[in-house]
Parts: sequence; structure tokens; C-alpha cells
Amino acid sequence: MIILAIETSCDDTGIAIVEKKDGKIKTLSSVVSSQDEIHKKWGGVYPTEAKREHQKNIIPSLEEALKKADLIKEGGQKKTFPEKIKDILQREEHLLKEMEIFFSKYETEKIDAIAVTVGPGLEPCLWVGVNFAKALAFYLQKPLIPVNHIMGHIFYFLKEGASIEYPALALTVSGGHTELVLMESPTSFSLIGKTRDDAAGECFDKIARILGLGYPGGPLVSLKAAEVKDKKTTLNINLPRPMKHTADYDFSFSGLKTAVLYDFKSRSKDTQKNENYIREMCQEAENAIIDVLTFKLEKGIKELKAKTVILGGGVTANKALQEKIKSMEQEFGDIKFFLPPKGLSTDNAEMIALAATMKEGTKKIDDIKPNANLKIYDKM
Ligand code: KG4
Ligand code: ZN
Repeated sequence: MIILAIETSCDDTGIAIVEKKDGKIKTLSSVVSSQDEIHKKWGGVYPTEAKREHQKNIIPSLEEALKKADLIKEGGQKKTFPEKIKDILQREEHLLKEMEIFFSKYETEKIDAIAVTVGPGLEPCLWVGVNFAKALAFYLQKPLIPVNHIMGHIFYFLKEGASIEYPALALTVSGGHTELVLMESPTSFSLIGKTRDDAAGECFDKIARILGLGYPGGPLVSLKAAEVKDKKTTLNINLPRPMKHTADYDFSFSGLKTAVLYDFKSRSKDTQKNENYIREMCQEAENAIIDVLTFKLEKGIKELKAKTVILGGGVTANKALQEKIKSMEQEFGDIKFFLPPKGLSTDNAEMIALAATMKEGTKKIDDIKPNANLKIYDKM
């Protein structure tokens, strides 16, 4: 079984191909076309611009992924697509033309199914991936598998060929989501905690914007924080740890961002630009975010008797968070912790393909549409 997956939920266009054979899963290719350079100038993702970029990047990414997986050959014929495909791509005129050109030139081989992220995410962006996936599935006459983006941020662990013990607890932390998910089996999920306002990655991004660091903010804040070498801070900045001690598993990050803003505004113009101030603020903000995330995670592990812990999402690329997770793993001893390998933490289609291998049954093309607010427990 060879699955080709498409991911366009935010600002990364991803195409990946994985093969599942005799119970083993192998990645044949994974291509991510990042839009960071485009969105830098806004300091955040602009949905309409992101949508345009997906439309532009999706066919070149498809071509690259198929070539890397060696599943493409020249020899397609000039054809006019059936009305059904024109219908599916009626709002993607440019894509329709490019797809016609692509299949006039190439034939694809051995693809057994198409998988696509249907949500959660930015609706205009999701539509590009979903429409393209539908057109491709119809053209190749293959089934279409709808995938929840958050499932991708959890099921990446299948790459290692790993199996997990249940109950498992998954913490997904990215620019759009911060969720604690309890898994009783590979198909039973409950959302036990979530952010009540901003996501953890969004908080990193907003703090970076306040401090004038750029976009995406997470890696930049993290770099500055790492510059505080001797760990002896001089400015004694104390940020709050919102909701750290509440009895539930929820999070809140917008107050933290506001606390950074107030502190920043209370400083002189010189201090605001001072490298030491920025470094120490980044370190304290990073500490505060990691502190609440891991405190609630630890509470969940103990109270729900988790046997496996899975971390997923862009924020898990954070080195300080990774170190904290590794020390937690040592403390707990008999619990296995999964952290995404490089390239599988931020958005990509490989994780969507991996999650798709877990899904049984497919849906009719006409019944598949994006859901920007899709929840982990929603049936698809
Ligand atoms: O999973 P992802 O690529 O997209 C969403 O699904 O939202 O996550 C992107 C988020 C951004 O907010 C980015 O700032 C954050 O992940 N991020 C980081 C790091 N690398 C990416 N946050 C903290 N430290 C990092 N090293
Ligand atoms: Zn994501």
C-alpha cells in the first residue's frame, strides 16, 4: 500500500509518500515548501497570501516528491480533464491548468491512495489541499483518506516502527494548537486539556514580535534565550505561569504575552533594544511556557497513569523543551517518551501519510470537505 499525502493547513505546503508493507512503514519521500520568507514581512501568517502560495507550490512539490520516490515517468498524453475534475477545481483555475500540463507530461505509478489534511487549520489553505487531493484521487481513480492534522502531530511516531503502550498521553504544541490528548487505544481519543486562548507557539511568535525579533518567533526566542550563558540573570524578570496550578489540564498563554508587553512598555527605549534585556526576557518567557506545559503534562502522566507520552507539533523543536522532556523520561524511568525527529515537528505531509496508515475505510470524494475547527474526537 503506497499513500501519497497532502498537507496545506497553515503556511507549509507538504507532499509525502509512504509505503506500508508487511506491517512495516517506510517513507519514500517528503517535500515541504516553506513560506516563512513570505510571511516574515507580516510577522505572522496571512491566510490569503498563504493560500496563493499553496496554489503555486503544490504541483512542483508533487513533482519533486514523486521523483524522489521514483514513482513517476514521462509519457502522459495531452488530455482534457473530465468535467468532474473541472468541477472540483472550479475555484482553483490555475491549479487545473497546471494539473493538465503535469499529466500531459507524466504518468504516476503505484500510488494506492491519496491522504489529505482536512483540518484543523486555516480554511482558505485547507481548501487548496482538499480540492487538489479530490482532483488527484478522481483522476487516478484512487481512494481519498481524510486526516486530522493533530493526528499527524501524534502518529509521526509510527516512522520509527514504534508501537506504544496504552493509555498514552499526547501533548501537541504548535502555532495553532496546544492540546493534551488521552489515547486509550489507537482509535480512542479524548481531549482532556487545551489552551483557552493562544497556542504555545503563537505565544512564542507574539513575544518575538513584541521584542522585534521576526517570524517565526519560536526558534528566534529560543536562540536568544540560549545566549544567557551562565544562567545568572541580572534583570530579575519574573513572568507569570498562567493556569499552572489549576485542577484541570487546560492552558492559557495570552496573559503571558501581555505580561511581556507590559514589561517591555515599562522599559526605556534603550533597554527595549538592549541585547541583554532581550536575551533575559526570551529566557524567562521560554522558561514560563515550558514550565506550564511540562507541569500539566506531568500531572496528567501521574493522574491518568500514562504508559507512553507523545510530544508533537512545531514547539517540540525547542531545545530547552526537549532537554526537560529527556530529564522527565529519566525521572519516570519505565515510561517511554516520544519526541519528533528533525523535520517531523513542524508541519509536513509525512506525518499526515503516517496517520493515514492507521485509518480504515475511505469516504466518497464528494463527502470530503475542510473543517477549520476539526476536533480530535470528531469522526470523519
Ligand atoms: O506545527 P507547526 O509547524 O504549525 C502549526 O500546526 O501551527 O508549528 C509552528 C509553531 C510556530 O509557532 C513556531 O514559532 C513554533 O512552532 N516553533 C518553535 C520552535 N520551532 C518552531 N517554538 C519554540 N521553539 C522552537 N525551536
Ligand atoms: Zn501543525
